[in-house]
Amino acid sequence: MAFTKKTIRDIDVDGKRVLVRVDFNVPVADGVVGDTTRIKAALPTINYLVEHNARVILMSHLGRPKGEGAEPQFSLEPVAAKLAELSGLDVTFVADTYGDEAAAAVEALEPGKVLVLENVRFDKREKKNDPEIAKTLASYGDVFVLDAFGTAHRAQGSVVGPAAYLPAVAGFLLEKEVSTLSGLFAEPKRPFVAILGGSKVSDKIGVIDRLLDSADTVIVGGGMAYTFTKAQGGKIGNSLCEDDWCDRALEMLEKAKKNGVQFLLPIDNVVADDFANDANTKVCATGEIEDGWEGLDIGPETEKLFADAIAGAKTVFWNGPCGVFEMDTFAHGTKSIAEAIAANTECDSVIGGGDSVAAVNKFGLADKMTFISTGGGASMQLVEGKPLPGVEALNDAE
Ligand code: 3PG
Repeated sequence: MAFTKKTIRDIDVDGKRVLVRVDFNVPVADGVVGDTTRIKAALPTINYLVEHNARVILMSHLGRPKGEGAEPQFSLEPVAAKLAELSGLDVTFVADTYGDEAAAAVEALEPGKVLVLENVRFDKREKKNDPEIAKTLASYGDVFVLDAFGTAHRAQGSVVGPAAYLPAVAGFLLEKEVSTLSGLFAEPKRPFVAILGGSKVSDKIGVIDRLLDSADTVIVGGGMAYTFTKAQGGKIGNSLCEDDWCDRALEMLEKAKKNGVQFLLPIDNVVADDFANDANTKVCATGEIEDGWEGLDIGPETEKLFADAIAGAKTVFWNGPCGVFEMDTFAHGTKSIAEAIAANTECDSVIGGGDSVAAVNKFGLADKMTFISTGGGASMQLVEGKPLPGVEALNDAE
């Protein structure tokens, strides 16, 4: 699908100071970066800018610090070191974001070199989208690039602010994410099968609603399936349920009927007598779970049902696990979904961020997927059809 904003291809960056908002919100423990996916995903933009002789100033948040000054566990210093290691570029880090030290490091930056500023969230004005910090950040650059897809749903200082003062364009990651996820709705190859899991209907209702206008089959698994079961009068024992959302769940089932969309729910479940890996378990038909038992995974018949639907798909979108896959006892259902997608080599498979990405990584199937989003909340907001403030703030393509 056509991307409607200007990108770094549309501007001259030679010798310019290019201020880039990336999403380097990666897991860091004891100074060690645990997952480099988001750093690697930013490399095409960073490499392009370096190859075109720009002075590259990178900024990001990491975690959710209090916003009252530096907190070492949220420092971007180890991330900058990892970036240098992965890219082979000349990367320096400055332990300052809005002060004189940062300004001096920007001033000293030479063409073809990269500077990483300290965590933008060490100052609470970032989250408040305070114009003063936007002005300060904008003063560092001649051009602003947004490549932080994972943060594009946050109307925060470093995400939307500099666009008010500088030419503002998208990086390659942002362009690819938005084009791919929006393209799902514009021109999916059919059949288009969407699989949604996770614990809460309330989190995914907007996504289900939109998919019912576009997909041929919508599969709902995971904890949220029990709200659908209860809404239809089934027994769910102690399984997760959002009672306030039963009516909306029924509306979704009605909408599927009206739109001719196949709506698949689990037909059997792995139930447990405790929320624990070593709990007693058994397989139980949907709607027949006794009190004292809770559903923590889809059952074997459901795995087959879902896998058959996935096998016939030409486009697959997956967001959310079908069971508590973090515990091995309840990982089988989610693994079977990942395997079914991986086995369908004819389909475009789009993994929509968050836990489903963790699942494909855990099962070693990431390289079998066509596209894995780096966004959690941002990808859901886009799939729901809601605008992303960061993208909205960029200059329109001519
Ligand atoms: C994410 O990990 O989803 C993004 O980096 C946004 O982080 P946030 O939810 O703390 O704003």
